[in-house]
Amino acid sequence: MAHILLYWAFLPLLASAFSWHSWWYEMGVFGAHPTLKHVSFDQQAPEVNVLQWDPRCEDGYVLLSPRGRFYPEPGPLIYDNRGNLVWIDNKFGMVMDLNVQHYKGQNYLTFFTGDDDGTRGIGSYYMLNSSYEVAHVVSAANGYSGDVHDFKITDQGTALMTIYEICPMDLSAVGGPEDGWVYDGLFQEINIETGELLFEWRARDHYAVEETYFERAEEKGTGPTAGKAFDYFHINSIAKDAHGNYLVSSRYIHTVTCISPSGDVLWILGGKRNMFKDLSDGSATEFTWQHDARWLSDNVITLLDNGAHEHLQTADFSRAYMIELDFENWTARTLHTYESPGHFSSHSQGNVQVLPRTGNVFVGWGKPSAYTEFSADGEVLCDAHWGPSMFFWFGWIKSYRAQKAMWVGRPSTPPDVVMDGQSRTVYVSWNGATDVIGWVMQRASRSDAASGEFELVGYTSKEGFETSIVVPDEAEGHYLRMVAVDQEGETLGMTRVFNTADETPHVTFSGPSQANLQHTLLAACGLGVVLAAVWKAKRRILILGTRCGRSVYDRV
Ligand SMILES: *[C@@H]1O[C@H](CO)[C@@H](O)[C@H](O)[C@H]1NC(C)=O
Ligand SMILES: *[C@@H]1O[C@H](CO)[C@@H](O)[C@H](O)[C@H]1NC(C)=O
Repeated sequence: MAHILLYWAFLPLLASAFSWHSWWYEMGVFGAHPTLKHVSFDQQAPEVNVLQWDPRCEDGYVLLSPRGRFYPEPGPLIYDNRGNLVWIDNKFGMVMDLNVQHYKGQNYLTFFTGDDDGTRGIGSYYMLNSSYEVAHVVSAANGYSGDVHDFKITDQGTALMTIYEICPMDLSAVGGPEDGWVYDGLFQEINIETGELLFEWRARDHYAVEETYFERAEEKGTGPTAGKAFDYFHINSIAKDAHGNYLVSSRYIHTVTCISPSGDVLWILGGKRNMFKDLSDGSATEFTWQHDARWLSDNVITLLDNGAHEHLQTADFSRAYMIELDFENWTARTLHTYESPGHFSSHSQGNVQVLPRTGNVFVGWGKPSAYTEFSADGEVLCDAHWGPSMFFWFGWIKSYRAQKAMWVGRPSTPPDVVMDGQSRTVYVSWNGATDVIGWVMQRASRSDAASGEFELVGYTSKEGFETSIVVPDEAEGHYLRMVAVDQEGETLGMTRVFNTADETPHVTFSGPSQANLQHTLLAACGLGVVLAAVWKAKRRILILGTRCGRSVYDRV
């Protein structure tokens, strides 16, 4: 907790890109959800505070699926490498795990959409093509609903997905009823084209309830009824390797399990049945509440060690791991760790990705609205927040995962344009278009406009999401349109035609909005809560420290 305060207050001061704006942002002065405002486009995306940037960071787009208490319109979101908005869409409702995945020679934007009941998702998976249109909807088989935690398209062109099913289970080993209920953790492999089920696996056949580290909260009554099932396993990632083996992460059993193509457990890393001798003082096998276990090669895996589960913290901060496994001697060794900058904790969610071209390691921190890119050996190269660190602990705006990927977006909708009649300025943007490098202004008389005969006025390079152009004298009194061009000068699309003489309302940016004021008030309250909690925690630490010398993190 004290770390958070330290991070919140001091780290931005040390950041290479220090500015007072950045500092106020992190303090929460602009609210829990500072947004970018545009004239030509209504949907508001979070403003990114880039704390550190390095040209060694891999070229690519950052993909998020923001949601949370202060995020009014959840949906998929893409930024460029510098934190400029590229695409946002609220028409899908809450989505999770936005990613770029490859299927049959094409890239798709994939995500879960549906409901989230706090434990699991109940929905299906969308695959959008480069024009942001739904090309495939993938659902679970056997009457199940797809879950939020993972949807992966394999190299064989099949889809893997997690599923949570409420099942009866004897809970007497954890002090519960014999006729208790659990959320079982399943995964399926599906033929995307036909929806046919190819493989299904469930945790209950392989993992006993007493292997869990998740406390069955007696006071909340988890376990006795199907409506209050005990989430003992919590499957949160699934991957498949070239040999057909599956890799499953269980957050509550603290394990990464390798499963053979016939469903047998081949090995278990971590948890109560860990099979590997740890050559790194426990760090390779004692991860807790982890997310996103992935194969990097046949014997190297990556995962995000959250070290925390909501408010139960078992490590001092969160970090990603690269772990080497030896299947001859059954040893595990930590090759690299990637520590949260400033040592904050991710109490839930998050992911780690080894980038294909540089080998850099990209981490989405989940509940804290932050993502970081590290060099392969753990140096922080780029670090960005899309919400103030002041509120990381609360998860008011969060993204289950953050991915970095190449993407070509060619929206089927036209670019948006608004002309401010008073300042004689044209504002133009094109949500989702990745290849635009500039805008050509064209003019025509009324009759020529009707027949589509336009002539060139000028060219302006694209700046960020929205480009503003002051109407030159030679364009006044004409009908205008803005044409998007790519690197080769090819036309990608054009706006509607508008008349410079049209009465358009003067665009005003008022001072701090009502919402910002409310958020500032909340920020003040939040600060109070944090200070109170730190004060309380400090007292506990003092008591603990003198009584039994236990690690302070047992309680904080
Ligand atoms: C994207 O999908 C839509 C709907 O299936 C289709 O009409 C469109 O042609 C596709 N675009 C591309 C570029 O594949
Ligand atoms: C297993 O241990 C033996 C003896 O220490 C060593 O020679 C061998 O290289 C190890 N195997 C692997 C795959 O590293």
